[in-house]
This record gives sequence, C-alpha cells and structure tokens, in this order.
Amino acid sequence: MTVLASHPVFATQVSDEIPASVADRLGRPLRDLRLSVIDACNFRCPYCMPADRIADDHGLDAASRLDFDEMETLVRAFVRLGVQKLRLTGGEPLLRKRLPDLVARLMTIPGLDDVALTTNGSLLAGQALALRRAGLQRLTVSLDALDQRIYQQLSGGRGNVGQVLAGIAAAEAAGFVSIKLNCVVQRGINDDQVLPLVKHFRNSGHVLRFIEYMDVGTCNDWSAARVVPSVELRDRIHARWPLRALAPNYRGEVATRYGFDDGAGEIGFVSSMSEPFCGDCHRARVSADGKLYTCLFAGEGADVRAVLADGVDAVVEHVGRLWSNRGDRYSELRGRRPAGKRVEMFLVGG
Ligand code: GTP
Ligand code: 5AD
Ligand code: SF4
Ligand code: SF4
Repeated sequence: MTVLASHPVFATQVSDEIPASVADRLGRPLRDLRLSVIDACNFRCPYCMPADRIADDHGLDAASRLDFDEMETLVRAFVRLGVQKLRLTGGEPLLRKRLPDLVARLMTIPGLDDVALTTNGSLLAGQALALRRAGLQRLTVSLDALDQRIYQQLSGGRGNVGQVLAGIAAAEAAGFVSIKLNCVVQRGINDDQVLPLVKHFRNSGHVLRFIEYMDVGTCNDWSAARVVPSVELRDRIHARWPLRALAPNYRGEVATRYGFDDGAGEIGFVSSMSEPFCGDCHRARVSADGKLYTCLFAGEGADVRAVLADGVDAVVEHVGRLWSNRGDRYSELRGRRPAGKRVEMFLVGG
C-alpha cells in the first residue's frame, strides 16, 4: 500500500466502518464499479441501440475485450481504491461466454460486499441457476412493458416478454430474492404500462423501479417531451395504491424508495432528469475494452487496459489519479452547457 500512502487523495476516511477510499475533486469517494463484460446485445432498444444506427453484428472482436484475468486484476484494484459494490453490465452480459466462471472468480475477491448483474432477461431462464451457483448475489432485469406488442417495439423487434417473465421465474427458483425490475418510461410510448407493471409486481417480493428517460448517448433521438417526471408517476400510482416514502438503504442510493401502505412491498423511482443525484455519485464505469468512464455522460473513456499487465498496484496508482481528477456532474449541469460528445449507453451498461 505504499503507493496509496504517498498520495494525498488516499487519506479520505468516509466513516469508521468504511475503508479509506480515493476521493474526487468534489470529495466523492469511489464505492461502486459497473463493469461491462460485452458491448454486444441481442436487442435493439430504440433508446439505447436503435436498429437503424447500430448494425446487427455490432460488437468488439474477442481480442479487444478484457479477458477474465484482466477483469480480475481490474476489480482487485478497484476494491483497493474503495469499491464495495460491483455490477456486471453489457450490452447484454449473458451473451458473454462462460460468464458464471467470471462471477465465481470475482466472488473470491475480499472486500467486495455486493455483486449484482443487469440483464434484459431474454437468456436468463437458461443461465439463472449457473449464475446463482457461481455466487451472484443480486439481479436487475430490464422490463419496459408487459404488453407484448409494446415490449417488442421497445426491444427493437427482438424481445419476447414471456421469455423475460420465464427468466424471472427461473431466477426466483434459483434462489434470487428481491429482484429489481427496471422500466424506462417514455410518454406516449409505454407510460400506459406503469399501472399494469405495478399490479403485476406488487406482492411479488421484487422491486419495480421507474426510470426517467435520459439523454444518454448520441443516437437515441431523445426528446424532453417524452420524459415523464417521477412525481407524476408517483401520484398516479399513489391514487390507485397508496404509497409512503421510505428511507434510502444507503447514502447515494440512485432510486428513491416508496412502500405500499397495504404492505405489498416497495417500488422505486430513478429521477436523474427531474432531481439529479450527482452530489453523492460514487460510481465508476469500465467498458468491455477496458476504458474508464467517470460519468454516464462522459465523452471519452480513459484507457486502463494498458496498465493491467503491470498488476494491481499499477492499476491502483493509475485509476486513483484518474478518479482524483474527476469533476463530473453532468445531470446537475444539464442545459447549462452545450451537450458534447457522450458515451453510448450500451458501452457502459446504464
Ligand atoms: P442498486 O445497486 O440495486 O441500488 O442498483 P442501482 O439503482 O445503482 O443500479 P441500476 O443499474 O439498476 O440503476 C438503474 C438505472 O438508473 C440505470 O439503468 C440508469 O438508467 C440510472 N442510473 C444508474 N446510475 C446512474 C448514474 O450514476 N447517473 C445517472 N444519471 N443515472 C444513473
Ligand atoms: N434513459 C434511461 N435509462 C436508460 N437505460 C438505457 N438507456 C436509457 C435511457 N435513455 C438503462 C435502463 C436499462 C439499462 C440497461 O440502462 O435502465 O434497463
Ligand atoms: Fe440491449 Fe440493454 Fe441497450 Fe436494450 S438497453 S439495447 S437490452 S443494452
Ligand atoms: Fe454520476 Fe454523471 Fe450520473 Fe451525475 S450524471 S449521477 S456524475 S454518472
């Protein structure tokens, strides 16, 4: 740890229980790593990888992707820098070959408290058990509609909602509890799916979250008119099934939580457009080819792959410097600055 001790930013101590972490220019520690294991996807959601802009065979060649040795080195370094939570993302992560082997390797890293995965759910039925056996702790499944016609449209003509529901059932059978279901809401496109989704997942033990449609990437034809502010959805749901606010599970939690008054569980809202949460943002994202993005809206990634061969200490030094220079707060500044180049969502997995 001599590298750490010689660098002033590593002195930050967030609380007595939490290990020291590197802090960025705004004093935010590094706690959460979101690692994309593949940039390919079998869906073409119009808000992420529109089919008319992203070719069917889009994806890095295998040699350009980090291999499992490199990923393990990377995660070990991030844990040394303060990361406690890891989320595996894509593209669609279940397209990555031997994913359960990777999970099993990462689970052996001391200091990692929470390992989760975000998937579109289409391949989950066949892989849930292997992932659970490998030690994966938590699952998030994207689900923008229950109606097959709307779901199909929102997956670029590729998705089948029955397969996703079967995947969720297989995940339950494999032992996953409190699965999160993410629904990106777009006015006039799928906002009529909100109440049916709530009805379906109330009492399931799972946690449905509604996400404000964001201006991520450059090819999704985003428009402000399609954003449905969370308060509007909350009021609509509350009128049917009364809600009460719940405290966050941890500082910097992305979703705002609400419980059903009748005890039917909880739901959440991710309100990056109407109530930005950059102040507590402790998330780093690494793409499948090993580039670090310090914000979901970053234009450029910083290469980390080149130092992975030099081992964990070298990566700690390199990433520590990058994080300590971080000043990102895109959502708080939105509209006040011209929008520049932005990384595509499918490269950093949301
Ligand atoms: P938990 O670990 O279960 O709390 O999950 P999470 O809510 O951190 O992760 P998830 O990937 O499910 O986040 C839900 C969605 O919120 C993502 O798909 C993004 O759309 C959005 N989101 C997550 N993190 C950020 C962030 O740092 N900035 C912005 N603007 N949006 C984010
Ligand atoms: N706005 C909000 N969330 C998005 N996601 C992808 N594109 C967008 C967008 N434009 C999120 C969704 C999806 C995850 C992989 O990324 O939550 O479930
Ligand atoms: Fe694929 Fe997820 Fe993007 Fe949809 S949102 S195209 S499922 S990576
Ligand atoms: Fe973090 Fe960037 Fe999202 Fe703000 S916009 S919460 S800095 S990822």
